[in-house]
Amino acid sequence: MLTSHDADAFPGLLTRDGARWHYLDSAATAQKPNAVIDAVTRALGPDYATVHRGLYARSADMTMAYEAARRQVAALIGGAEHELVFTRGATEAINLVAQSWAVANLKPGDRILLSMLEHHSNIVPWQLIRATTGAVIDVCPLTQDGQIDLDAAQAMLTPAHKLVAFSHVSNVLGGVLDVARAVALAHGVGAKILIDGCQAVARVPVDVAAMGCDFYVFSAHKLYGPTGIGALWARGDLLDAMPPWQGGGSMIDRVTFAETTWAPAPQRFEAGTPAIAEAIGFGVAADWVRGKGLAAIHAHESALVAQAREALGRLNAVRLYGPAASAGIVSFTIDGVHPHDLGTILDEENVAIRAGHHCAQPLMAHLNVPATARASFALYSDQTDIAALVRGIERTLRIFA
Ligand SMILES: Cc1ncc(COP(=O)(O)O)c(C=O)c1O
Repeated sequence: MLTSHDADAFPGLLTRDGARWHYLDSAATAQKPNAVIDAVTRALGPDYATVHRGLYARSADMTMAYEAARRQVAALIGGAEHELVFTRGATEAINLVAQSWAVANLKPGDRILLSMLEHHSNIVPWQLIRATTGAVIDVCPLTQDGQIDLDAAQAMLTPAHKLVAFSHVSNVLGGVLDVARAVALAHGVGAKILIDGCQAVARVPVDVAAMGCDFYVFSAHKLYGPTGIGALWARGDLLDAMPPWQGGGSMIDRVTFAETTWAPAPQRFEAGTPAIAEAIGFGVAADWVRGKGLAAIHAHESALVAQAREALGRLNAVRLYGPAASAGIVSFTIDGVHPHDLGTILDEENVAIRAGHHCAQPLMAHLNVPATARASFALYSDQTDIAALVRGIERTLRIFA
């Protein structure tokens, strides 16, 4: 059993030769603390058994651990455990809302409001819904500094809008949505609102009850937890009324060939044997993040963003995108250097950034660039990472001069 090392250490932050890896791609996926790695290892090892089925003690213990994870994850976002569905990730959670709630509730001519900065995961599921229900998609523009323009949203929303789906934190520009205002605008015309919390949940305090949203989705792997697991939180009355979207074991009450009845939510939405060890790792990650405090994490990452923007802004060839007050994410381009070339040269310096369209091609078109470079921070990032990034960019500029 792995228990002897520091629960707060991140083995993934070292290179293969044991040097410090300047990992600036946490918005893609966060490195894992030993607390999470150990929990998953135990769950797959000495504690392993199935859940919700076995009559033996190990399975009963595992079921308790799985349901405890649901409580831990719900607690992180101020939700109730019976309102939290485990999914494969944020993408699957949005597809769940689309294929269950939207198919049951939207009709031709109903409207869905998205924004220009959405991740493909919060665009494509709604395009599939447009094709099946005849609903129409509207796109809310951005402010000059790259935030969802809520004044424009207010002007666009009509009683025909049945759903608003916005990112809480942009994965490209890092801007933080005023969720309370977005909720008030959506509810003002009778629309439901889904918040894509994928980037937010590890970076800013989230309280779904206080925010008043209807759906909130996120992935564990950006929250220092495992891949293959995420969550949909939905208001209890909405979730209770939603039909299942996948059928199979675990989600039923009684099955006959003539008719099948469903289990109550959240089990109704968790067909098949779930991702057991991943859920347990998710719960440990949620508790671990709560222990660190999201206000403290936000303050730490905001300070790094300010330093990075200041340092990059001093380089003439660098162009910064997004608002100054971004949550842990800095996107930029360099005149005359493709972001992919920059990413490759930085890799030689043990600096990992993301370069590309960030699954936000409509936003790239809006910014009029094929791609950006993106440095993103986490609780384990520090000034040495920014210094290494700047050194790498200076070397790149010399190579391209
Ligand atoms: C804002 C946003 N939404 C949705 C997703 C999709 O998350 P996943 O691939 O974990 O389902 C991401 C991942 O990059 C994201 O940044």
